[in-house]
Amino acid sequence: MSVTIVFGSDSGCTKKIASRIASQIDARTVNITKAQSSDFEDCSLLILGCPTYGDGDLQADWEDHLNALEEAELKDKKVALFGTGDQEIYPDSFVDAIGILYDIVVGKGAKVIGFTKTEGYSFTHSAALRDGQFVGLALDEDNQSSETDDRIAAWLPQLS
Ligand SMILES: Cc1cc2nc3c(=O)[nH]c(=O)nc-3n(C[C@H](O)[C@H](O)[C@H](O)COP(=O)(O)O)c2cc1C
Repeated sequence: MSVTIVFGSDSGCTKKIASRIASQIDARTVNITKAQSSDFEDCSLLILGCPTYGDGDLQADWEDHLNALEEAELKDKKVALFGTGDQEIYPDSFVDAIGILYDIVVGKGAKVIGFTKTEGYSFTHSAALRDGQFVGLALDEDNQSSETDDRIAAWLPQLS
C-alpha cells in the first residue's frame, strides 16, 4: 500500500505527528505548501493532517493551497484525516479543521476511513463530528501529549 501524508503546520506539531505516523507505516510526507494534485492522487491511501487555527479555521498554508486538493481527482480515493488542536483553550472549535477537510474530500467522492470516538476528550463543540464521532484522529499535543502514541497506535490499524 502506498501512503502519502499531506500536512500543514505553523509551529511544527502537526509536522512532527506526520513524520511519526509516516515512520510507522512507511509513508511519504508532503507539506501542503509544496503539494501538487498528483500528490493527492498517486497513492492508495491519502492521509491529510491539519491543525485548527483562528476560531475553527484551517491552518493558513492549507487555506492558501487548498486549490491543489480541490483540483485533485479523489473519486473513490481512500482518505484518512488527523487534526491537532487545543481542547482547553478552544473547547468550542476543537479540531474543526478536519471537519472542513472532510466536507471537501467527501464532496469530491472520496471514501473517508478512520473515524474515532470522543471518549477521553473534554470539549463543548467540534465541527469535526459526524454521527457523534470525530471524522479522523483528534490529537491534542497542548494538553494530552501523553495520549498521542496510544491514539495513533489505535487508529492506524483502522486504515489498512
Ligand atoms: C491563534 C491560535 C488559534 C487556535 N485555534 C484553535 C481552534 O480553534 N481549535 C483548536 O482545536 N485548536 C486551536 N489552536 C491550537 C492549535 O491547533 C494547536 O496548538 C496545534 O497543535 C498547532 O499545530 P502546529 O504546531 O502544527 O501549527 C489554536 C492555536 C493558536 C495559536
